[in-house]
Amino acid sequence: MNARAPKGTADMLPPVARAWERLTRVASDLFARYGYEPIYTPLFEHTEVFTRGIGEATDIVSKEMYTFEDRAGRSLTLRPEGTASVVRSALEHTLVPQGSVAKLYYSGPMFRYERPQKGRMRQFWQIGVEILGAAEPSADAEVIVLLVRYFEAVGVPASRMRLLINSMGDEKCRPVYREKVAAYIRAHSEDLCDECARRADTNPLRAFDCKVPRCVEVMAGAPLLREELCDECAEHYAAVKALLDALGVEYVEEPKLVRGLDYYTRTVFEVQAEGLGSQNGIGGGGRYDRLMEEYDGPPTPGLGFALGFERTLLALESAGVEIPAPPIAEVYVARVAEEVAGIAFTITQALRDAGIAAEMDHQGRSLKSQFKQADRLGAHLAVVVGPDEAAEGEVTIRDMRTKEQVRVALADLVPEAARRLGS
Ligand code: HAM
Repeated sequence: MNARAPKGTADMLPPVARAWERLTRVASDLFARYGYEPIYTPLFEHTEVFTRGIGEATDIVSKEMYTFEDRAGRSLTLRPEGTASVVRSALEHTLVPQGSVAKLYYSGPMFRYERPQKGRMRQFWQIGVEILGAAEPSADAEVIVLLVRYFEAVGVPASRMRLLINSMGDEKCRPVYREKVAAYIRAHSEDLCDECARRADTNPLRAFDCKVPRCVEVMAGAPLLREELCDECAEHYAAVKALLDALGVEYVEEPKLVRGLDYYTRTVFEVQAEGLGSQNGIGGGGRYDRLMEEYDGPPTPGLGFALGFERTLLALESAGVEIPAPPIAEVYVARVAEEVAGIAFTITQALRDAGIAAEMDHQGRSLKSQFKQADRLGAHLAVVVGPDEAAEGEVTIRDMRTKEQVRVALADLVPEAARRLGS
C-alpha cells in the first residue's frame, strides 16, 4: 500500500495544526469585532453550484475541480472555494431576507487539482468572510481593511505586504470592455500563447493573468477597464478608494488585476506578500453582486475575501515571524518512586480541573528524564512527589527556569501553582 499522503496534500502535524488553530482563533476574535458570524457548509456541493457560480470558462471549473458521481449518480464536487457554497446556503435558508444584511465567516479545507508547488496545494486551507445584502462602498472598504488588519494581527509585517485593488465593472460596462479585449487578443493572437489566443472566445480577461513572458508583454498594451467603467462603477470605485484613504490604508491600483473567478463585479482586491515566489497572493476577494441571481435567487449584492493558511504561514516564515505557541504543559508532575504514582495522578487531575495545563509521566521514566520531558513540553513548574514528603502531606514545587524549590502542603498546591503561573 502507498502510505504517503496524496500529491498536493499535507498532513497537518501538531506544530502546523497549532498554528492553524491560532490563525483561526485570531480570525474569529477579529471578525466578531466586525459583526461576522460563523457558518459551516458541506465540503462538497452539487457540481452546478460551482460551474454556475465560478464560471465554466475559469481554470477552476474547467481544469481543477474534484468532481465525482455518488452512488446514486449525482454529480458532486469537492468545494474549490467557499463563496459559492455560502451564497447557495444563504439562498436555501433565506439568510438575507429583503433589506437585511448577513455577515458570515468560515474556515476549512478547499480542493483544487492544481500543479503542486511552493504555496500551491491540492487541498489547502482558507479563512474567509462574506457580506450579503450590502451594496454601499463602505462594505467594500470594510472587507478590504479587515483583510489587511487580519494579516497585521497575525504578524505579517506591513512592509512585506502589498494591497492591490481594481474595479471589474458591472453587467453594463464589462461586456463592452470584454469585447474590446477579445478584439485586441484576436489582433495579437500570433504573439500570444495558444491558450491566450483561444481565450478571445472563452474568457478574454484571463489573458491578463497569463505568466508566459510574451503574453505579459502583449497584454501590457491591452485596453484597460479603468477607461471604460460606466459612471456608477467609476463612482463606486472612487468612493471605496476615498474610504481607504481616510483610514490611511495603503494600496496600489492594479488595472490588470482580474482574479480567477467569473462572479466578480466592481471591486476586486488581493494582498501579496514578499518571499513566496510566484504564488504570492496570500488573500483576495471582491464584490459579486449577481451571484445570487445565478442561482435563481433574488438580486442580492455580496462581497468577501478568502485568505490562504499555507501561504500566510510561508509569509510569516519568510519574514522570520514566529507564531506564539502556548506551552503544552504549564506544570509537569514528576514522581520520585512508583509507590507515589497514584498521588501524582490525582495531583495532575486536580491541576487540570483547576484550568491549568498539566502533564505527567505514563512510561515509568527516571526523575531525570521526567525533568527533561517537562522542559520539552515548556513547563514553567514541576511538582515533585516523593514518598517521604507525601507521607507528611506535602510536595515540592520546582521552578524549571530558576531551579528554585519550595515545599508546600498538598492542600495548598493548586492555589500556589496558580499563583506562581500568574493566573
Ligand atoms: P482565491 O483568490 O481563489 O479566492 O483564493 C483565496 C486565497 O486562497 C488565495 O489568496 C491563496 O492564498 C489561497 N489559495 C488559493 N488556491 C490555493 C492553492 N492551490 N494552494 C494554496 N493556497 C491557495 C477565492 O477563493 C474567493 N472565494 C475569495 C472570495 C471570497 N471572493 C469573495 N469572497
